[in-house]
Amino acid sequence: MGCCDQPADSTTPTAQACCGPAAEAPAAADPRSDPRIGVRERYAAIARMAEAGTPEPAMSEGGCCGGSAALDRRSLGVGYSAEDLAVVPREADMGLGCGNPTAIAGLQAGEVVLDLGSGGGIDCFLAAQRVGPSGRVIGVDMTPEMIAKARANAAKLGHDNVEFRLGEIEHLPLADASVDVVISNCVINLSPDKAQVYAEVARILKPGGRFCVSDVLAREELSAEVRSDVALRSCCIGGADTIEATQKALAAAGFTDISIRPKDESADYIKDWGHHAEAAQMVVSCDITAHR
Ligand SMILES: C[S@@+](CC[C@H](N)C(=O)[O-])C[C@H]1O[C@@H](n2cnc3c(N)ncnc32)[C@H](O)[C@@H]1O
Repeated sequence: MGCCDQPADSTTPTAQACCGPAAEAPAAADPRSDPRIGVRERYAAIARMAEAGTPEPAMSEGGCCGGSAALDRRSLGVGYSAEDLAVVPREADMGLGCGNPTAIAGLQAGEVVLDLGSGGGIDCFLAAQRVGPSGRVIGVDMTPEMIAKARANAAKLGHDNVEFRLGEIEHLPLADASVDVVISNCVINLSPDKAQVYAEVARILKPGGRFCVSDVLAREELSAEVRSDVALRSCCIGGADTIEATQKALAAAGFTDISIRPKDESADYIKDWGHHAEAAQMVVSCDITAHR
């Protein structure tokens, strides 16, 4: 089963009012009104299954952003080196990325790094190694189960220069001009308001700061049907903007030196996403860099 096949959490208990009769459970929010609801449920389910030790929940049978049982092979395929995989806890890599942002970020000792949508923490731990004890890495993720998992991984590694904060990338819990480098791996496509994400990134980056991201972009404008499909949005297909739209949005947020490099070889793993026959024709993984 791939992550796109996993049921959303359907175990919401009936609310029990304190010292009173059982209250009606609130009506379930409609994921179409805010796509982040469906996205959060999806990634919470993946984190819970990983926590329960279900073998490679996101990856078996190749679901969205997932590969096969040979997770290492998949992670090498998206761009991690064998050395990278040797230094991160297995639990930090759930096969959810589409690239290796630390490989394009040129991180230096002492830098402050922010990872948007940090998941189990794989890219934060790689960044922490590169910036060293005088640097700092902050991971932000809106899914509490992912934050708990990343914190447990950090405790296991004993890193004291990494922290994980619960929050949305559209409303970053960071001060203005406080970060040298923003990284992210297969997350911004999931946001319903990318202009707001870029504005927030521009706000928290120091002048001259770098934006170094792996993400999927649409090869051509996606159809309204694909864009409104909750499952396809949650598995990194339906929410992807085109390369041209991304270039324009970054420029509008004040970024310069914008470079977007599509990686055609990503079709090898994207073809399995969402069990959609045309996944690799619709989106491509890109290395995206820009300066504040
Ligand atoms: C495809 S996974 C990638 C995780 C991680 N970057 C990796 O490569 O393993 C997407 C992650 O982004 C988080 N996410 C999605 N949309 C978000 C948003 N609007 N704000 C904060 N986190 C978000 C999800 O909770 C999930 O952990």
